[in-house]
Amino acid sequence: FRKMTELELTGKKVLIRADLNVPVKDGVIGDDTRIRASIPTIEAALQAGAGVIVMSHLGRPTEGEFQPADDLAPVAKRLGELMGRNVAVVNDFNGFVVKAGELVLLQNVRCNKGEKKNTDELGQAYAALCDVFVNDAFGTAHRAEASTHAVAKFAPIAAAGLLMAGELDALGKALKAPASPLVAIVAGSKVSTKLTILETLSDKVDYLIVGGGIANTFLLAEGHEIGKSLAEADLVENAKRVIAKIRARGGDVPLPADVVIGKQFSPTEPAVIKAIGDVAADDMIFDIGPDTAARLATVLKTAGTIVWNGPVGVFEFDQFGKGTEVIARAIAASPAFSIAGGGDTLAAVAKYDIANDVSYISTGGGAFLEFLEGKVLPAVEILEQRGA
Ligand code: 3PG
Repeated sequence: FRKMTELELTGKKVLIRADLNVPVKDGVIGDDTRIRASIPTIEAALQAGAGVIVMSHLGRPTEGEFQPADDLAPVAKRLGELMGRNVAVVNDFNGFVVKAGELVLLQNVRCNKGEKKNTDELGQAYAALCDVFVNDAFGTAHRAEASTHAVAKFAPIAAAGLLMAGELDALGKALKAPASPLVAIVAGSKVSTKLTILETLSDKVDYLIVGGGIANTFLLAEGHEIGKSLAEADLVENAKRVIAKIRARGGDVPLPADVVIGKQFSPTEPAVIKAIGDVAADDMIFDIGPDTAARLATVLKTAGTIVWNGPVGVFEFDQFGKGTEVIARAIAASPAFSIAGGGDTLAAVAKYDIANDVSYISTGGGAFLEFLEGKVLPAVEILEQRGA
């Protein structure tokens, strides 16, 4: 695909699809990471002498309706603060013409009829606003919607922005041609939501580290007692296949030899360390144990590439967060090319303050997961179809 940086933008009308879908509560923005991550592309287009229209969705509004919670005004305000200029919101973009040097934000695209359905009409209406369409919304690249897909069919030129290109570059480096050994950490509450990822990675990884409910299902598959721990008994055969496949390739799925258990899920529940063989029928596993964490840290130290999605324990309760902390610090200390993504993972990155020590942190949630699944992201595919 084309990259925005390769294009001549002086005097051009540039329409940038960003992912400014940030948490907003009562008009107050929680985490503005995605807004910050979108600025380099906007700045570069303005500096090249373009007029810039930015568009994004916010939340999941009902199409054709507009509620106060759908308003992108707080996002425009924060974007303006961060860029040191005023950013106006354009509510009705029909007939709108942007001037060189101007920067505006279109109102929440998901309120437009045809956005979710990816209609050609809406794609054409967006395309009519610009000379160049730039997709910089990696976080929304797994959605084929009018502002991510149809518009790219009809715009005179369609290209990837800096963030989009950077994300694809980093993810490609981690998964398409990884420096070995490749270690993936896939953790979280359910195997079912990450089964495709586990299956896809089983063809690639040297080590698969599992955690949380996913590890419990894998422990079941290996015949261990897990008490009342969260697990999916119906996916034990799938877990067995993943383990067998990786071992057949000479890799390993190092399962916890010790765990941290509690009797109930509560912030004040005392943490008890047990060998996996000592887990009782009324125990619940909430974290990996210290011996396991130390062993995994050694694996991470010698990795060439690390892909991290999901905390290995209930890290929101400090007494069950040690495993995730050891893993986070080991990733931070490892010379490997490391990449982290997904909501819970980013919360752990923030909690243990290792953002500067991870090689790349993805802004994608669902898009990051679908990339790990090996799926084609439709918003990227259409840019590729539009050629280089
Ligand atoms: C995200 O937050 O993952 C993206 O912005 C996509 O949002 P969506 O899941 O509502 O399509």
